[in-house]
This record gives sequence, C-alpha cells and structure tokens, in this order.
Amino acid sequence: MSAAEKLQLHNEPVQPLFSVRDLTLLYGPEKGCQGVSFDLYPGEVLGIVGESGSGKSTLLSLLSGRCPPDRGTVSYRNSDGRLVDLYSASEAQRRTLLRTEWGFVEQNPRDGLRMGVSAGANIGERLMAQGVRHYGELRAAGIDWLSQVEIDPLRIDDLPRTFSGGMQQRLQIARNLVSSPRLIFMDEPTGGLDVSVQARLLDLLRGLVRELDLAVVIVTHDLAVARLLADRLMVMRRSHVVEAGLTDQILDDPQHPYSQLLVSSVLQP
Ligand SMILES: Nc1ncnc2c1ncn2[C@@H]1O[C@H](COP(=O)(O)OP(=O)(O)OP(=O)(O)O)[C@@H](O)[C@H]1O
Ligand SMILES: [Mg+2]
Repeated sequence: MSAAEKLQLHNEPVQPLFSVRDLTLLYGPEKGCQGVSFDLYPGEVLGIVGESGSGKSTLLSLLSGRCPPDRGTVSYRNSDGRLVDLYSASEAQRRTLLRTEWGFVEQNPRDGLRMGVSAGANIGERLMAQGVRHYGELRAAGIDWLSQVEIDPLRIDDLPRTFSGGMQQRLQIARNLVSSPRLIFMDEPTGGLDVSVQARLLDLLRGLVRELDLAVVIVTHDLAVARLLADRLMVMRRSHVVEAGLTDQILDDPQHPYSQLLVSSVLQP
C-alpha cells in the first residue's frame, strides 16, 4: 500500500506531490509534447507509453526541469511541505532537487554514472552533496546499497566500466536511491538489456519502489514493463496524451483507437 493509500484509509486529505498543467514544448508540428496535465501522489507510479517520437522523453525532460517549456507549469511539494514552482525556481534550486529529493535513471547507464570513479564513489556522491563527510559512513552506505541492488559488495572499489550492462543499471539505481529521494524519473530503464536481465531488474525495481514508497514517472515503450510497475498510464501519440487512466483499465479495455492498436499489437504473435 502506498503512503497515499494509507492516508486515504484514515480519511486524511492527500495532497499531490507533483502537479503538472498544460505542459507544452514543441520542436515542430506534433513534435514534442503539448497540453499535458496530471497530478502525481506520493508513492504512485505513472507510466508514459507510446510509439517512438511521440514525445515521451521530451515530457520527461520537462518534468525533471532539464529543459524549459514553451508554456505550462509544474509544481512540486517538497519534503517540508512547501510548493516549488519548477520553472520559476533558480537553476541551483532545480539542481539541488535533482540530487536530493529527486532521482533520474537514464536509459544508458553511462549517462547516469561517473565511469571514471569506483562503484562506491558513485553511490557516495549524493550523500556527500548532502554533507556526509565521514568515510566509514560513506563506505557503509556503499556496501549496503550494492547488496540492495544485488551487486557483490566486494566490487565496491571497481570501476563501473568493468560491470555488465545490467549491473551498471543497478548501480545507477543505487546511486539515485541512496539519498532517499521521494520522486524518481526513469527513461526506458530496461531498454538496452537482455530479456532475462530485464526481468531481474524489473523485479528489483518493483520491490524497491514498494519498500521505499517512491513516486515514479517511468517512460517505456514496453507494455509488460508498464503492467508490472505502473499504477497509472498515459498513452502518448504525436505529442498528445490520447488516453490516461489506471494501468489495468487501459491495458484490458483501451478506449482510444491508438491505445487499442498499441495493446493489440503486443498481443499478436
Ligand atoms: N532537441 C530536439 N530538437 C529538435 N527536435 C527534437 C528534439 N528532441 C526531440 N525532438 C523531436 O521531438 C519528437 C519527440 O521526441 P522524443 O525524443 O520526445 O520522443 P520519444 O517518445 O521519447 O521517442 P523514443 O521512443 O524513440 O525515445 C521527435 O520527432 C524528435 O525528433
Ligand atoms: Mg525517448
């Protein structure tokens, strides 16, 4: 049960963690994303699905404050309850959010890891940014997180480039989660991996998301990934969100013709 669901059981009003209104960035006609609005609650996993070029990564870049929109707003309720207006915040505030309360798991682990420093240093970096200086503490966190993502802690001093693709991706996840973020963005986190490695990573991710009560926005073109991880889905096509709702509802009974096509194309042998 997510934090939001627990609060609802006690009839306490739950406020969204993240509110998005009319978010738009167009590189050309129907290239990018337009008119996107949604609320994300604590502990909720939102999947963004759709064909290549539909605007999924553009939307994720906007949501995480990596690029500014043509129009629209994103507000985030930070851990002390204050609302942060993402695009009017300073660059420094956005950067602080991204390395403390938020995380970003890149499709290609090489973009999300520092390849020139050890696995332990990769994990310790965000803690150091939060002011942890004690070597023993950083080391202990490194060992703890390596084992949480099923990497042998004896590899703590090894460079990420000596790791397999699946291990690199798990290290990237550890590097992001060590600072106890509340919201994680992921762009195709299992994209470049073999099917069996994907399945293991997905299991691990699912466990961590539930255990840590993380809110997640995950981009994937793989509906099996969406089914496994996401509570809700947004289906994108040519820069528009054509359908949004509960994952089971969309996958079992899609309403928009494009969602129907997307779902049926997966079911065909
Ligand atoms: N920086 C950019 N400059 C110009 N056009 C861009 C830029 N980034 C994306 N686009 C265009 O915007 C559209 C949406 O791209 P985007 O990368 O968001 O799609 P996507 O849904 O993530 O696709 P994929 O599944 O292939 O990753 C595409 O037509 C792309 O060519
Ligand atoms: Mg993309």
